[in-house]
Amino acid sequence: METKIIKVDPERPDKSALEEAARILRAGGLVAFPTETVYGLGANGLDANACKKIYEAKGRPSDNPLILTIGDISGLYPIVGRVTENAEKIIDAFWPGPITLVLPKADCVPMEVTGGLDTVAVRFPSNAVARELIKTAGIPVAAPSANSSGKPSPTRASHVEFDLNGKIDMIIDGGPADWGLESTILDVSVDRPVLLRPGAVTKEMIEEIVGEIDVDPAVYSKPSADIVPKAPGMKYKHYSPAAKVILVSGNLENVVKTINEKVSEDSAKGLKVGVMATEQTKNRYTGASVLVVGDRDKPETIGANLFKILRKFDHIGVDVVYSEVFDEAGEGAAIMNRLNKAAGFNYIYC
Ligand code: TXA
Ligand code: MG
Repeated sequence: METKIIKVDPERPDKSALEEAARILRAGGLVAFPTETVYGLGANGLDANACKKIYEAKGRPSDNPLILTIGDISGLYPIVGRVTENAEKIIDAFWPGPITLVLPKADCVPMEVTGGLDTVAVRFPSNAVARELIKTAGIPVAAPSANSSGKPSPTRASHVEFDLNGKIDMIIDGGPADWGLESTILDVSVDRPVLLRPGAVTKEMIEEIVGEIDVDPAVYSKPSADIVPKAPGMKYKHYSPAAKVILVSGNLENVVKTINEKVSEDSAKGLKVGVMATEQTKNRYTGASVLVVGDRDKPETIGANLFKILRKFDHIGVDVVYSEVFDEAGEGAAIMNRLNKAAGFNYIYC
């Protein structure tokens, strides 16, 4: 299949381009589009066959449910069984925006979307291209991240093209994703909300609105027989470049010293080594391919660049990547959650 790539203005996307994309979606095809978090791979969320194509194109396990995106708030009611009181509060505070809500599902939502669960995850993105596209299509649009399963999520159209070219009908290029990490997922189908995936809307921000919430243990620990993530997708190896990723934790002086020692040990063994550094440390590493993920004083830059940098290490073709770690406060929780998964919780403490 030939994948058509269309570039649009991120703020004022061309109507005829979106109409063409919406026609493809309504006819059961696949269209990748930008959101404020990462690029999504869209299909008609009420069409089981169209959703099956998403699993095929991504190579995604069929028990990993999809998120349904909506283009305005009225799109929510037909696809959920009930809007809980906590859901209403979160919606008032944060929608449209980078938070996904898990709610009881309505009968019209196919089991292919929910992976057999009786809940459905719903998101109302704020990105202008995403909103206009979903509104124009007039259907709920199933939209997982538009990467090959297991790879870092795409934050640019070129990432989608690299993973899915020839497997989907269209890619809408609306520029780089603003935030760069996937949405927060909050289960509000239960009395006390549970954070299933940290994102731009932080635990602290949510607790200001609904009081104390629980956090799924799989957010902070390696999934195991005892720790089974409530968001099925969080149990898979994820976000991983081909290289082995090792996180180095300690005070920054020790981290720099330890990484430099590891780089020379590994290079002596003939390995090609990468280092994920920050603006603060970039000139202090030697003998490795050093990529800067962002500025420690501006965590949002680290979130925005993380997946792009993990993908770059793949292109350079390193065998191992040593990475600094970051403060887990606020939005740092999302950064460290993705980094831990990319590294399979592989740490050197120093
Ligand atoms: O930012 C985002 O949310 C992006 C953009 C494109 O919207 N989408 C995204 O989708 O990250 P995906 O499929 O890559 O991640 C969705 C996660 C998976 O871990 C999945 O298991 C979980 O949401 N999920 C979906 N439905 C669920 C449900 N009913 N209960 C619990 N977890 C659910
Ligand atoms: Mg994903």
